[in-house]
Amino acid sequence: MVPKAELHCHIEGAVSPALALAQAERHGADLSEIVVDGAYRWTDFTAFLNVYDTVAALFRTRDDYARLAHDYLSSLAADGCLYSEIFISTDHAEQTGLSPHAYIDGLAEAIERAKAETGIEGRMIATGLRHGGPEAVERAARFAADNPHPLITGFGMAGDERMHHPKDFAPAFDIARDAGLRITVHAGELAGAESVRDALDHLRPERIGHGVRAIEDPALVERLAEERIVLEICPASNIALGVFADYASHPFNRLRDAGVKVTLNSDDPPHFHSSLANEYRIASDHFGLDDAALKGITRTAIEAAFCDDDTRTKLL
Ligand code: HPA
Ligand code: ZN
Repeated sequence: MVPKAELHCHIEGAVSPALALAQAERHGADLSEIVVDGAYRWTDFTAFLNVYDTVAALFRTRDDYARLAHDYLSSLAADGCLYSEIFISTDHAEQTGLSPHAYIDGLAEAIERAKAETGIEGRMIATGLRHGGPEAVERAARFAADNPHPLITGFGMAGDERMHHPKDFAPAFDIARDAGLRITVHAGELAGAESVRDALDHLRPERIGHGVRAIEDPALVERLAEERIVLEICPASNIALGVFADYASHPFNRLRDAGVKVTLNSDDPPHFHSSLANEYRIASDHFGLDDAALKGITRTAIEAAFCDDDTRTKLL
């Protein structure tokens, strides 16, 4: 089994339809519009975000999150994953009345337990939601900055990239960076090359979530390679959300051949009928990567991981 590593998975997006239905039953919620024939149903990105929020609202306790993250990390470890960073969202916790401290505590317990049982290393990246606006993202950054946790090592931003301008979020990212958190940001998924360039200029990330639409501008691709920016590429997500029509037109190899550092990630796996193992399979079947090349992708991810150097050395 090829060793794997993942830098980009949203914990609220990792809830299986079966677990969502079980939570709905406990809380008397109706998911009949959302889970159809055992699969999530949504039509476009906005509908996807709504489904995502509805499912997240069914996770209301520390133990709900501990169980979710433990199940997710255990399944990753069984698939040969050595290292995983999960995006967390204190906004989603607070929307259900769960204290962000209890949320983080449950997730941290899961990371520690999964490591004790399987050896998998896990870290958390605090995120703000772009469609929540600059003030909400700044609040998320300030919470992360004011409540340091050894397993929260980065700050990022997810959500609807079509809203607001990256410069609006510069104060939030400055707060996170000044607190020693490492920076990634979603860009170049729902918007094009300019969105990636503006994110680089204003938010100064080391990594970009997705970033694939940088391919629309050769000068930007060159810049990504030169500045050694790492792309967290999520192939199944890109196809499911219609960012590219099919794997044949996906720019994974064009970016890699141009010298851009690329990694493989599952984003919100059950929503896109995927898993990290499936992303590696896609890279083999559709992008032609052999086992040595896949190991190289894992190495790139570990080199770009937001972890301490001792952990990195142990994993490499
Ligand atoms: N893009 C933006 N926001 C998200 C995503 C995504 O792919 N998944 C969960 N939140
Ligand atoms: Zn994402």
